Amino acid sequence: MTTRRTFLASAMAAGAAFGNSKTFPYQEFEQRIAKKDFRDMTKDVLPTPCMVVDLDLFEKNLKTMADYAKSAPIQLRPHVKVHKSLDIAKRQVALGAIGVTTATIAESELMSRGGIKGVLWTKQPASNNNIIRAVNLSKADPTFMFVVDDFNVLAKVDEAAAAAKTKCRIVVSVYAGLTRQGIANGQPAVDLAKRVLSAKNVSFEGWMAYSGGASHTKGWQARLQKSIEDLSGVNETVALAKKAGLPAGIVSGGSTGTYNMDHELGLTELECGSYVFMDSIYRAVGGKSNGEIYTDFDNSLSIIATVDSKHHAGQATIDYGNKALIQTTDQVKGMPWMRLEKQGAEYGILRWSDGGGETKVGDRVEIYCSNLDMSTNCYDRYYIARGNQIVDVWPIMGRAGAAQR
Ligand SMILES: Cc1ncc(COP(=O)(O)O)c(C=O)c1O
Repeated sequence: MTTRRTFLASAMAAGAAFGNSKTFPYQEFEQRIAKKDFRDMTKDVLPTPCMVVDLDLFEKNLKTMADYAKSAPIQLRPHVKVHKSLDIAKRQVALGAIGVTTATIAESELMSRGGIKGVLWTKQPASNNNIIRAVNLSKADPTFMFVVDDFNVLAKVDEAAAAAKTKCRIVVSVYAGLTRQGIANGQPAVDLAKRVLSAKNVSFEGWMAYSGGASHTKGWQARLQKSIEDLSGVNETVALAKKAGLPAGIVSGGSTGTYNMDHELGLTELECGSYVFMDSIYRAVGGKSNGEIYTDFDNSLSIIATVDSKHHAGQATIDYGNKALIQTTDQVKGMPWMRLEKQGAEYGILRWSDGGGETKVGDRVEIYCSNLDMSTNCYDRYYIARGNQIVDVWPIMGRAGAAQR
């Protein structure tokens, strides 16, 4: 637990390492990044608010999940919605992932065009725009798959695939406790799978069952119970399909919160995403060994903010506001007594209760965001750090412009 005394000591140590900020050639900042010349680029010279990845913790998170998947064994097809980064996807594949899962057709296009094979898009295409793009991507990349949970969508996909003279790989999305998607289990799901098998221009690849309600259930035991309930119908569907002579396919699902229970519950592959970075809400779901904090994966991502103004007791203003997706559930690294409040588009408030003040104008704080998917969607790039030193910059893709649509 960080106390004020240890915090002050570490802040002074960090201050010593922040010696570059006066002399850094700021006019060269972007050119240096373009040339990957990170000399003298320490955290303190970065423009704020910005996202920083602690490379050691990030690599540890990746390895923990990859090692688990190998030992279970279960395949890993991690969800990229939390990071939107080709650099990260490539690292996940290098550690054994068989592909990635995506939330939008734009993410699917970006990942596939970036060279990632085995992309599984976990939302069905409903608009003509999305159907035609999914068909075109299937033609360009025969390893691409996407889900369907609706007979009419399947018919449209089949027709569009015929027109494009291609074949689409279809995964049937079934209900797994989350009412947002998935056809009803049992006969309706098996009937849809049969329709996929009988359609000329698509192939049946298996099932997707994302039990998103289980992922954030507090307490490992309660989470296990919820997963068992959420996946019971899915297992009935798989058994019924087998009895009906359907080919066995993948059973994809799972999450960071349930990664170490999904294998026993019938999944053949994991779609975990948040484990690469973790956020403050996920850390609070509790783990097997620690009921309060989920310690399986570390917070490797933080947002650096600068204290911009301080005139009132017990509070300071930072440059992390609504545009940067401040949330009151965010946490300040190393300063658990600090609370965050929304103030305005470019302003947030740091508040502490006893009128003391460890922060002063110009100080920097590091913040753990509350919801990775939404926060990463607000930033252009990750600054990759080893300690205080920036060692790389990775773009965050597909969050604006045409690619987002
Ligand atoms: C369909 C699907 N699969 C997997 C995930 C990844 O879950 P997590 O980030 O909890 O690991 C998500 C995240 O929302 C999702 O929407």
